[in-house]
Amino acid sequence: MAAPIEAAVRYEDADTDTSFARDVIAGLSARPKRLSPKYFYDETGAQLFDQITALPEYYLTRCELEILRERARDIAQFFPAPSALVEFGSGSSKKMRILLAAAPTIAAYVPVDISSQMLVQEAQELRRDHPRLAVLPVEADFTKPFTLPAAAAGMAHTGFFPGSTIGNFEPHEAGAFLRHAGRMLGRHATLIIGVDLVKEVSILHAAYNDQAGLTAKFNLNLLARINRELDGDFDLEAFNHRAFYNSEHHRIEMHLVSKVRQHVRAAGRTFDFAAEESIHTENSYKYTLEHFMTLARGAGWTPVAVWTDSGKNFSVHALAFQGR
Ligand code: AVJ
Repeated sequence: MAAPIEAAVRYEDADTDTSFARDVIAGLSARPKRLSPKYFYDETGAQLFDQITALPEYYLTRCELEILRERARDIAQFFPAPSALVEFGSGSSKKMRILLAAAPTIAAYVPVDISSQMLVQEAQELRRDHPRLAVLPVEADFTKPFTLPAAAAGMAHTGFFPGSTIGNFEPHEAGAFLRHAGRMLGRHATLIIGVDLVKEVSILHAAYNDQAGLTAKFNLNLLARINRELDGDFDLEAFNHRAFYNSEHHRIEMHLVSKVRQHVRAAGRTFDFAAEESIHTENSYKYTLEHFMTLARGAGWTPVAVWTDSGKNFSVHALAFQGR
């Protein structure tokens, strides 16, 4: 029998075509102008981000992988048999595979992502490598409520949110996300979450202003994507990448700064830029261990374990849901 055509469970909010246009129009009409970092990850953007994770300056991925590898046996304790591992924004399954190797109690894997292409491809490879693992992809915007697949119903639910993606949220949004994740996973659920740490500014600055210029390319790809998908006429040469640490708000900010006064057309509208006017494209919040635990407690979670890499650059927390 031929293998069935792969399809992920799909949700209304995964309808990114129209929401991208809507968000671009709203963001470029706002003052200050802004665009959501969730739109960085089209195919080109996902590839560029992959390359960023291998940069010498970009310590985040390396440090998180170090933690997952060194602490896999400790982390595996949080997966009773049988467990469903629910990954928010799956991307590549590299990190999840480390947990899977250490925790054979993981019976189902539920990757949740807005990109169905990535989901389907990763699901196929995982099924091939782990024929007994139930791979249950959900195509959804994980920042909004979605329903867990019925096949995961009888299992313990463990969320996995690596990469410090939570750093893209405003602290109040991060709290709301944690609360919604807890409600969805249910009482007694565990969440394994990667969180980047506050550190020396020069290290942070280098990670977002790499010598090879990949982060600049990644940032500018957002304008290229608008050109491709929303019939835009952004001149990529007319914008500068700018990234700096905002110490008052404990966050790296990324901006695209217009070099000159100009008009740009996109999504059927015209947008005016003054010289030096910026589009704020990303916040990447950095936490102390204590500060993140306080945020988690406020969202109904109890911190039960935390691990850091040897350089104390990055943290992985285990949280238990007590709220409702
Ligand atoms: C994937 C959101 C964690 O904030 O470091 C990398 C994205 N931005 N370089 C981060 C990113 C610029 C990344 N996160």
